[in-house]
Amino acid sequence: MRVLVTGGAGFVGTNLIKRLLKDGHEVASIDNYSTGYKENEQEGCKYVNYNLEDLNQPTLFDKELFGVLDGVDTIFHMAALARIQPSIVDPTTAINNNFNSTLYLPSPGKITGIESSSSMLPLMV
Ligand SMILES: NC(=O)c1ccc[n+]([C@@H]2O[C@H](COP(=O)([O-])OP(=O)(O)OC[C@H]3O[C@@H](n4cnc5c(N)ncnc54)[C@H](O)[C@@H]3O)[C@@H](O)[C@H]2O)c1
Repeated sequence: MRVLVTGGAGFVGTNLIKRLLKDGHEVASIDNYSTGYKENEQEGCKYVNYNLEDLNQPTLFDKELFGVLDGVDTIFHMAALARIQPSIVDPTTAINNNFNSTLYLPSPGKITGIESSSSMLPLMV
């Protein structure tokens, strides 16, 4: 399958990508490296540096981004500001990042599924 992992340079995303590559899937990641690391990048996965909050601004789209979004079968949505304490101190930043990023991901109607992680679960039901 053709799989997109958002937050692929983070802790959960990295381990997920390792497993998906091992299972023979074609894998790409979108990450803005706000809390993720270049050192986490796995050979065989295509990484695009992009802030998912900008998905609602077509002028910020680029060819590379279209390339990884095109023809995706499944999205594992792991991109988030995941720490709980900062989201209590500054909920606006957490809501803008986590909510908007999820809102503008491609429509589930075009793909077989979106798997999300705990910071986004309230938005996916
Ligand atoms: N780490 C755990 O033990 C654990 C356990 C249960 C659930 N989760 C959930 O898994 C998800 C990921 O957690 P994690 O521990 O891997 O966090 P992490 O901070 O290591 O990874 C999150 C990744 O998302 C990226 N990101 C954040 N906002 C982005 C944006 N707007 N656009 C593009 N990329 C963006 C970051 O740069 C980072 O690489 C969270 O939803 C978290 O709640 C984590």
